[in-house]
Amino acid sequence: MCGIVAYIGHREACPIILKGLRRLEYRGYDSAGVALLNGNLNVYKKKGKVSDLENFLSDKDTHSTIGMGHTRWATHGEPNDSNAHPHYSNSSRIAIIHNGIIENYSTLKTLLQSKGYTFYSDTDTEVFINLIENIQDENNCKLDEAVRLALHEVVGAYAIVVLSKDEPNQLIAARKGSPLVIGVGQDEYFLASDATPIIEYTNNVVYVNDYEIAIIKDGELNIKTREDIPTTPYVQTLALELDSIEKGGYDHFMLKEIFEQPRSIHDSMRGRLIAAQNHLIMGGFREFENKFVNAKRIIIVACGTSWHAGLVAEYLIEDLARIPVEVEYASEFRYRNPIITEDDIVIAISQSGETADTLAAIELAKQKGATIFGICNVVGSSIARASHAGAYTHAGPEIGVASTKAFTAQVTVLTLLAMIIGSKRGTIETSKLRSLMIELENIPSKVEQALEMHDKVIEIAEELKDATNALYLGRGYNFPVALEGALKLKEISYIHAEGYPAAEMKHGPIALIDENMPVIVIATKDSSYEKIVSNIQEVKARKGRIIAIVTEGDKVIPAMAEHVIEVPATSEYLVPLLSVIPLQLLSYHIAVMRGCNVDQPRNLAKSVTVE
Ligand code: M6R
Repeated sequence: MCGIVAYIGHREACPIILKGLRRLEYRGYDSAGVALLNGNLNVYKKKGKVSDLENFLSDKDTHSTIGMGHTRWATHGEPNDSNAHPHYSNSSRIAIIHNGIIENYSTLKTLLQSKGYTFYSDTDTEVFINLIENIQDENNCKLDEAVRLALHEVVGAYAIVVLSKDEPNQLIAARKGSPLVIGVGQDEYFLASDATPIIEYTNNVVYVNDYEIAIIKDGELNIKTREDIPTTPYVQTLALELDSIEKGGYDHFMLKEIFEQPRSIHDSMRGRLIAAQNHLIMGGFREFENKFVNAKRIIIVACGTSWHAGLVAEYLIEDLARIPVEVEYASEFRYRNPIITEDDIVIAISQSGETADTLAAIELAKQKGATIFGICNVVGSSIARASHAGAYTHAGPEIGVASTKAFTAQVTVLTLLAMIIGSKRGTIETSKLRSLMIELENIPSKVEQALEMHDKVIEIAEELKDATNALYLGRGYNFPVALEGALKLKEISYIHAEGYPAAEMKHGPIALIDENMPVIVIATKDSSYEKIVSNIQEVKARKGRIIAIVTEGDKVIPAMAEHVIEVPATSEYLVPLLSVIPLQLLSYHIAVMRGCNVDQPRNLAKSVTVE
């Protein structure tokens, strides 16, 4: 996790870096710092948010055209001033910012201590910079060579930037496993963990590959491998718009992103579905069509909300394409010696495309010969690049830590994929496919209607805001939605919540139900409607407080529930795209009412780039 930004060029570096750090704060926000090179190499850092750093800098001389900054999500060492980045080497001659984890830091630290090095923080990063310094001193070499040699010694993940007082007009960066993008401007370069700090200055970017070192010196960018072989930087043009990464009048990114869903779902279907023309295609699918059509099994790997989208996909693919699907937590998958064959297709789902566990699961599946199909939101991300084929979700940048529009875009793309595989395999009747295409095309306008329940959701949030627990129940396609609703509540309002298949309640959780327990039941009209009505009665008999998400016009459940929120009627296959909307809004408003930091919840970061 953590966000890194750096600048070298002709403008004042500090304002560019601070603005970039604010954009990257979603990646970590427990401390922040900058290093500026102007004859001296000055490091300023502070526990807290980027705004705390800005206050701290207000009376400092920050004049410089070369610098770097960091916003931290703590891995080694508690959040405090000394563990904040940048870190100096012992001589204060060089400094580093780092996103990632050095796994062998303790061995390296002992070695460096035996050579007389002292450590002023608890971080692995301070070990890294002293390793570089030690190599430079022992080999009497230039900084880029010392960095290159150090990369052979460290085990783990990193995106780093290093500055040296003795080699001004130069900035060195390297990456393995953590993202790093270089923006190429006119006689200036911008480095960052993603393109959001760069986009207002230039659309031309270079994605640094694993084990590459970028040396920017005297206005020139050179890239070489850890083995010292020069590579040619591949400059891509990004389509990202500045508007899409600003709040646009909303109080929080999360609320903006919830309300963006009619558009983001539409964008995720653009060019892929035109019902009137019977047009249903997915570029990334074509090359592997035969593999999909003949697949004996599909494995889905993902984490968190993306894993919930994977569960929806399991129902969709098994139902529409009749291929067995296994949905795996990426973190468990790689550590349990899974059986994977060359006939398997592994679908990796990730908003950020940088989740370390998902990336590692992909690598394992690749080694065993499986075909990897990546479904990512961030264009050019590591998972997208590590996949054999895939589809972008095109939801636009998601900044709020709690995933909302990325989930509905993932579910949309997975629905399209299930429909395409089903139609190619002949497992879905033409008339059913046609009506599903029409209904899916209409989903954005139904999401808009679901968003109209906003005021009703606020009223319910007012009642639930002081709860200490909540239970979310759903069946069939709404079971993953129950899990997602509970995750949203937990992560931003810190209320304990559990998602359960409604019928499982009587095997344990029913013991929790009393008049203080809010039970949010997703009970839309589908094939298990009658069953879930019975489950509601079971809760009611034990005095549970029922908040039900129902299909518009339902007359039965309103008579049993304390509150109902209506969503428009749709096909059972598409219902998660609607039923999740009130749950996103509910968690958002409860969190705001409890005074929580919605966009930057405690202990979390947007991309989990550590295992
Ligand atoms: O970027 P990814 O989709 O791979 O991230 C996976 C999870 O870390 C993510 O969904 C997380 O659970 C969110 N905070 C949920 O809102």
